[in-house]
Amino acid sequence: MQVPPLSPAVYFLLALPILALLLRARHGPSREKVIKPTEERVVLLGASSGVGKDLALAYARRGAKIVLVARRAAALEAVKEECVALGVAADRVLVVPADIRSPPDLLAVRDVVVNSWGGLDTLHILAGVPSTRTLLQIAGVDLVPEPRPVVPRPRLVPAEDLAWVGPGGAYHSATHLPTGAGLEALAAEARACSEINFVGTVLALAAFIPVLIVSSASPAVHHLSSVAATIAAPRRCIYSATKAAALMAVESARVECEGAGIRFFSLLPGTIDNEFRRKTAFSHNGGNCEVQAGVKAGWTEKLLLPPKKVVDTIISQLALPTAPYPVIPYPPFSWVSGLRAPPKSQFYLPYTYKLATLLSLTPLGYLYVEPKARQKYGLRP
Ligand SMILES: NC(=O)c1ccc[n+]([C@@H]2O[C@H](COP(=O)([O-])OP(=O)(O)OC[C@H]3O[C@@H](n4cnc5c(N)ncnc54)[C@H](OP(=O)(O)O)[C@@H]3O)[C@@H](O)[C@H]2O)c1
Repeated sequence: MQVPPLSPAVYFLLALPILALLLRARHGPSREKVIKPTEERVVLLGASSGVGKDLALAYARRGAKIVLVARRAAALEAVKEECVALGVAADRVLVVPADIRSPPDLLAVRDVVVNSWGGLDTLHILAGVPSTRTLLQIAGVDLVPEPRPVVPRPRLVPAEDLAWVGPGGAYHSATHLPTGAGLEALAAEARACSEINFVGTVLALAAFIPVLIVSSASPAVHHLSSVAATIAAPRRCIYSATKAAALMAVESARVECEGAGIRFFSLLPGTIDNEFRRKTAFSHNGGNCEVQAGVKAGWTEKLLLPPKKVVDTIISQLALPTAPYPVIPYPPFSWVSGLRAPPKSQFYLPYTYKLATLLSLTPLGYLYVEPKARQKYGLRP
């Protein structure tokens, strides 16, 4: 049987992918070529558990020089032992107990890094605490309706309580009004979360950026943000607000430091499969974890991130070449210097949340994203 000859147009189409590969403008050397993994000096703020600990172990496998920082000294020592068990020399893992809210503590970390290794290459700002109740729950008023997909929707304030203001403004019923103590509790939680998630982040940036600039051939700052920083999250009112503040601080610092050579990178993950939500702003237990409570079932399970995926994404994003590269990587566009940009500074995990963030700027935010967010956190959709 004779095969019919292919037209030149088909040959051209088949050759296109090869042509595209050959013409594709290069991005420059990977950051790992500029700083070898075994020479990288890494500071992990928030390394006693969770993603910080997982990152410490990943860097230990790569043979990096690591500084472990958090408040719990014993937990840090245990992480160091695990790093050493992976083969990294004990003198390449430094433990510096410190509170990210404390300027003297941060300066002490900086002194250790400068005196021991002459500076650092990669700063990870991971320290953070959750807040897992609604605004009114924190203030002592439990008005959250049970999940109930029926119409009409339950009122936030029960009808009988709407009669609370009588003639002259007297309260008839104060059942669902926060007390002074309730508002004090709310203030305490808001301050605690702000101090660690937001103030700690800006202090860390200011303490380490100058050292990064002068001491590293390819300095990088990674901030572990959250998808809650860009999508309004129920039962995350305080947390969401403080993570948004921190994200904006990192982004603004990035714009201010343009030209200084630092790679700024914020990862915005959804729910990670770890113990974070079991904590509160004040303690390592007592939180409200919807994963353990069984709220996340069915479709939401797909969105539960394995910690390894989070660590792999951070490491691979930080390995990208830092030089600006062509937005359209093909000639003649790749020859235009005004069409070049550095690697992106924000990365959503999973990618679906980037779409959700964009949708939330449209009416689909109200119609689709917000009901899904309420469902995810166990409120009526
Ligand atoms: N887990 C999730 O689902 C999730 C999702 C999105 C974003 N994130 C973000 O990921 C980051 C890391 O959380 P994780 O999931 O790894 O949970 P984690 O195990 O609770 O880690 C938090 C780390 O921060 C440290 N830390 C807390 N307060 C500190 C302070 N004042 N000073 C110094 N270190 C402090 C903790 O150590 P000490 O208590 O010993 O100080 C711990 O090492 C957080 O910023 C969180 O907002 C988590």
